[in-house]
Amino acid sequence: MQFSVTTSTVDKPRAGIRAAAVSHRRKPAPGAQALDAARDGDLAALLKAGEMDGDAGSRLLVPGTGRKGSALLVGLGAKKDYDARAARKACQALAGALVERPADSAVIAVEDFVPRGKDIAWTVQTLVTALGDAAYRFFEFKGKEETRPVKLEKVQLAVDRGHADAAKKACSEAAAIVTGMNRAKDLGNTPPNVCHPESLADTACRLAEQYDHLETTVLDEHELEALGAGAILAVGRGSERPPRLIAMEYRGGNKDDAPVVFVGKGITFDTGGISLKPGAEMDEMKYDMCGAASVFGVIEAVCELGLPINVVGVVTSAENMPDGRATRPGDIIHTLSGQTVEILNTDAEGRLVLADALTWVERYKPKAVIDIATLTGACIIALGHQGAALLGNDDRLVKRLQQAGEETGDRGWQLPLWPEYQEQLKSNFADMANIGGRPAGTITAGCFLSRYTEDYNWAHVDIAGVAWKSGKEKGATGRPVPMLMQYLLDQA
Ligand code: BES
Ligand code: MN
Ligand code: ZN
Repeated sequence: MQFSVTTSTVDKPRAGIRAAAVSHRRKPAPGAQALDAARDGDLAALLKAGEMDGDAGSRLLVPGTGRKGSALLVGLGAKKDYDARAARKACQALAGALVERPADSAVIAVEDFVPRGKDIAWTVQTLVTALGDAAYRFFEFKGKEETRPVKLEKVQLAVDRGHADAAKKACSEAAAIVTGMNRAKDLGNTPPNVCHPESLADTACRLAEQYDHLETTVLDEHELEALGAGAILAVGRGSERPPRLIAMEYRGGNKDDAPVVFVGKGITFDTGGISLKPGAEMDEMKYDMCGAASVFGVIEAVCELGLPINVVGVVTSAENMPDGRATRPGDIIHTLSGQTVEILNTDAEGRLVLADALTWVERYKPKAVIDIATLTGACIIALGHQGAALLGNDDRLVKRLQQAGEETGDRGWQLPLWPEYQEQLKSNFADMANIGGRPAGTITAGCFLSRYTEDYNWAHVDIAGVAWKSGKEKGATGRPVPMLMQYLLDQA
């Protein structure tokens, strides 16, 4: 889908759907009024006849006739209730309606949709990401019948002349976020017999060929062995697919600007290993690489925008399988940091692959390190599917991520890393155990990671609840690409 900004009014373009807004009590917003005037008052007549009330969630599609194209009116509800949350919903309703239609182009009266407390840039970004989200399809593995992409190809965002520059900037940023989300969704949805550590490494190499300022390095199992990355190797030991540590270095800033480093958990399938998971819904553990997928998405979006900063995306990838050679509960491993870990549960594997990667990234002298992982089921118990859990050793970094999440509707919420929780990781035989018992499972996982991140500013994003949807709409969501990109855009 292509997005562009126009300063001509919503009624001008000839083809496609024109979309505008109506407030509570059938009150057309300015874009809808202009549209109505150009259509000889037929919209006002339909509103008057009660075809649409303008309540939040209401929609009216008026099919085109003759030289009048079709019009889509979206209800905003009462003015006093029209805040950012309501606007997000209206944008989603608009996006849903547009992608259902057979039209290949649309023009949206953006000014109609700006909520209280937000500006044009925010509204453009919200519209574009909502449209990208609604238009996403994954049919690589489907027969012909179901492989029809949505018709909508071209979307024009109509704004007042004075807002054109801000709108254009927001539009290209949001289009890059959509590209990044689509990448993250595609990788997440790809089945685990196709998406595995080596295929992720290939994807990273292909990205580096595609973009000038991007360079990819891959460490294979032999190099990991020589390095001493005992934790990544321990997790991959039960699989026929060897592990990989992948680094994508984007240099858009000055040579000696410290980079922001993202580290993604890339468990391409998590059976639990010898601590085998129950069978129900185990297929969903293909999404255990969604942290890595979001890192790919961010790197691609950053490359698209050519941001003037340095960013490194690291993916730590293995497949967690049970096997004769698999790591056992009771095994003690040597991590890259030199600390030893007693594995009490082989299903707590994410923190292990992250531990070595978090040690390895010290080499970048990073400005900040943010790891992203589908790390704990406990995170879903704590926050459900609304927000990611945020933890870290730098409250300012955590707050910035939280702020970026609020801005984009891709939210996160901080959990504490009080030192008292560290005691739950005590092992009788090694420097630490890899699990901390049932209480505060997301926090003790964070505590484990904190032992590998002491040398830099660090935040951890647990996305177990937000990275995919279960049930009828099963699939990857592309989260938290919007949060992470907004964080970077706020920096740049
Ligand atoms: N990938 C899982 C976490 C997970 C579970 C994500 C369910 C999404 C949905 C992780 O590797 C895991 O298995 N964690 C264990 C940790 C426990 C053994 C301490 C968990 O959360 O049960
Ligand atoms: Mn697991
Ligand atoms: Zn896992």
